[in-house]
Amino acid sequence: MCGIFGYIGKNTHAEKLVFEGLKSLEYRGYDSWGIAALDGSGQIKITKNIGKIGNANLDFVKKSNMALGHTRWATHGGVTVKNAHPHFDCNHHLALIHNGIIENYASLKSELIKKGHHFISETDTEVAVHLVEEYYKKQSFEQAVFSAFKRFEGLNAIIVMDHKTAVFAACKNGSPLIIGRGDGENFLASDAYAILPYTRRVYFMEDDELVLMDSKKIKVISLKDKSLKKVNFQKVDWSIKNEDKGDLPHYMLKEILDQKFMLDYVVSHQDESIKKFSQLISQSFGTYLVGCGTAAYACLAGTYIFSKVAKIHVNFSVASEFGYLVDYLTPKSLVIGLSQSGETIDLLDALKKAKAKKAKIGSLVNVLGSTLYRFSDHKLLLNAGVERAVVSTKAFTAKLAHLLLIAYYLSGNYQEGKEILKNTISVINNLLNDKQLLKIKDLSRRLSHQEHIYIIGRGASYPIALETALKIKEASYIHAEGFAGGELKHGVIALVDKGTPCLAILPNDETYFDTLSGVMEMKARGGYMIGIGFKNHEVFDEFIETGDCQLASIIPNVVIGQLLGYYLAVEKGLDPDKPRNLAKSVTVK
Ligand code: AGP
Ligand code: GLU
Repeated sequence: MCGIFGYIGKNTHAEKLVFEGLKSLEYRGYDSWGIAALDGSGQIKITKNIGKIGNANLDFVKKSNMALGHTRWATHGGVTVKNAHPHFDCNHHLALIHNGIIENYASLKSELIKKGHHFISETDTEVAVHLVEEYYKKQSFEQAVFSAFKRFEGLNAIIVMDHKTAVFAACKNGSPLIIGRGDGENFLASDAYAILPYTRRVYFMEDDELVLMDSKKIKVISLKDKSLKKVNFQKVDWSIKNEDKGDLPHYMLKEILDQKFMLDYVVSHQDESIKKFSQLISQSFGTYLVGCGTAAYACLAGTYIFSKVAKIHVNFSVASEFGYLVDYLTPKSLVIGLSQSGETIDLLDALKKAKAKKAKIGSLVNVLGSTLYRFSDHKLLLNAGVERAVVSTKAFTAKLAHLLLIAYYLSGNYQEGKEILKNTISVINNLLNDKQLLKIKDLSRRLSHQEHIYIIGRGASYPIALETALKIKEASYIHAEGFAGGELKHGVIALVDKGTPCLAILPNDETYFDTLSGVMEMKARGGYMIGIGFKNHEVFDEFIETGDCQLASIIPNVVIGQLLGYYLAVEKGLDPDKPRNLAKSVTVK
């Protein structure tokens, strides 16, 4: 969601460099984009476009040493060229890009309109550039940006380009911003990986900081007390892995297939991190797992895993609700955020509230150097590899694998946990063969015209039912709902009619017969029953066998849900890597 890239320096085609920077941020998800560049005559020129970046024409400017670009994920105002960033002030002397939501934009806007400012977009963002313009009438550029940003409510990051001083000013509170220091050139971006091809000296801006930047100087001041901050640029040696999809048609398929390698890595390389995290949990009084979307379902699965294997109670909340539950936290509480990107604002906001209650913060996170990674007191890097498809797959199973091993460690049976996961790897290998893929593809073809699909599971398979439904919804836009098997008869069964496709997840565990009763009840109402699990039963119209790897069966079973989501999308001619309205990094509340 929203990519920001700024460049100032020796390159005379700053606009092209920024364009490439935006491309590397595309995976975050966006609906429109734009670039502002300062041309040789000191004028700011802007290009704005809706849709994908593709091979755009950058003729809007001949030559430039200073440019900033933005990929927008609309929150306030439709997806139009006018609403795309950058936004100008009244005189086209300033250009501004923004990530986040200015919650009090309406009152600021009416104040500015009264002062004669002219607005052309429906965005909250445009308020920011006019407010800077207003303060700039009487204050320095630095002071004007400072004064404006202090008045915004909400979680935001902005970069402002000033034509007069040829300086960038950027501020942040919530959304990520990273500074890259080069040789006669400097960078700003919302993701360190976008900067690494140019320089490895980076500084992760903290909240409540303002930076002023030209091609040589970088000055950071505190937005709290205006004091000058001494910042240390760190040299990062992260490898920029070329995790290309190769001959495969989509990243989502690549990432589903990657899961066998990911599991192998977890089993063979993560012992130390798992041990540390287990000790952390056993030393804490009250552990809370929080995350959003797919990560939230991993948290919910964690509650079953810890109960079953380690016989301990862990709490779970979706991150966007956790902020309202923090009153009972104490300094002995441990709050663990689960996240692929490490940039999800709902999660970061919840964890900040937990930190304010002095709770310890842990994380299971996939992106090294992400905001969550840096914010956590204790971090466990998932090492699932780069995940580019918006629809998360391998990061989910990586979380499950780690939670399983932590729970086995806590139970004192770590080796048993590892053996179970090793067995899971061979089960997954069997699942991901061409014959099985064809079978799921064929099933998807037959289901692709359906409007609704229902999925049931109990115990640890309940979150798997929820995750399967999410994969189908996100990738194929088919309405899918996951339910706890027992809840069916309390309402949802009213929706089951002749031919309604219903998936049931039945591993070889205590839930088997109870879930089977739910299957019978749906079948009796005409449901077209598709079983996923370790053995077939006559009640099923179709069955996908996934094998038995005890509690870890949740991993192969969810892989079927991922494949269904993928092939349903492909059948419908959709791009599963970039579903409409979704973003890989959800950096607005
Ligand atoms: C996953 O398929 C989704 N696109 C989404 O629910 C995602 O899991 C959620 O936004 C959390 O993201 P995170 O793991 O990067 O924090
Ligand atoms: N709220 C702003 C808008 O709707 C910024 C959105 C973003 O972060 O991309 O334009």
